[in-house]
Amino acid sequence: GPGLGEVARDHGLRYGAAVQAAMLERDASYARAYETECALLVPEYEGKWAALQPAEGKFDFRGLDALTGWARAKNKTVRGHALVWHNAMPDWLTAALAEGPDRARALLDAHIRTVLDHTRPTIREWDVVNEVVADPPGSDTPQSTPGDLRDSPWLRALGPDYIPLSLRLARAQDPTLRLVLNEYGVEEEAPHCLEKRRRLLDLVRSIRRAGAPLDAVGLQAHLQMDRPFNPASFTTFCRALAAEGLGVLITELDVRESWRVPDGYPARDQLVADRVRSFVDAALAGGVKTFLTWGLIDRYSWLVTDPGVKRADGLLHRGLPLDWEGNRKVYWQAMVDAF
Ligand code: XIL
Repeated sequence: GPGLGEVARDHGLRYGAAVQAAMLERDASYARAYETECALLVPEYEGKWAALQPAEGKFDFRGLDALTGWARAKNKTVRGHALVWHNAMPDWLTAALAEGPDRARALLDAHIRTVLDHTRPTIREWDVVNEVVADPPGSDTPQSTPGDLRDSPWLRALGPDYIPLSLRLARAQDPTLRLVLNEYGVEEEAPHCLEKRRRLLDLVRSIRRAGAPLDAVGLQAHLQMDRPFNPASFTTFCRALAAEGLGVLITELDVRESWRVPDGYPARDQLVADRVRSFVDAALAGGVKTFLTWGLIDRYSWLVTDPGVKRADGLLHRGLPLDWEGNRKVYWQAMVDAF
């Protein structure tokens, strides 16, 4: 039957997933799943600074070009991720940023200029800044920082202005590019999530006040089953962002199961699917039109490969629409039903 991308399109929505460019070449069944299910693709790694500028001034677009080439052949849209982020920074960059604000500004300008110039024909929407709000107390990874912004080499080098500056540089380089600020940890009802919502809203309002350009906010939506979710409250939050004149996208949906859930795939999968249905319904009610999952097939998900996020009890997360073998799960059906 038709994939999620087609179903979404039939309802005026967009669906896609994060992809590993090298896997598209290496694994035919992986490529086939993306071809079937996705209208939209985002590089899981190939758009990050460490991939694009591994040494100062030496840009490497091979991975990203492979992805945009494949997408073009298959008639898919690619969104960019991510120009400015505190992770996937090459060591040379971290060291250079400590040399002072002039050096930091020059590097930021050169990176944004070179990348956007190269991707202008193939990528029309970029996550310009990613994960810039600090995690409040009570979250898994709280940051002690004086303000609401995450302590990062960029913040240390340039202060809070690095955010509007990045957006301005992107707009100046490519005036019709859709500029997105991407963030996590605001989707659920835990007190630290609600505090992070407040911080994010304050940030986008301050960007507006500064007269800096911003078109949309991406909400990553790395959901956790052991956190409370309140659909009405999340819908209200999406509408509050929209009221600032911003588009709202769900950019990295996946679901981490509670470690307390006993094994047994049918039961686990149904709990996750119910959460996905409730989440997507709430986002739709809040005006969201674009949905991406962070990966497509459980086997390749960072939820099972990343040492920092995989389950400590030895069981595997099943947080994506397709199972280990690439078969559609009740999760997939939940998204179809929601769309
Ligand atoms: C993750 C990748 O999926 C991992 O493979 C990598 O080890 C770390 O980065 N938020 C983001 C993404 O914006 O870029 C992250 O991707 C997941 C969390």
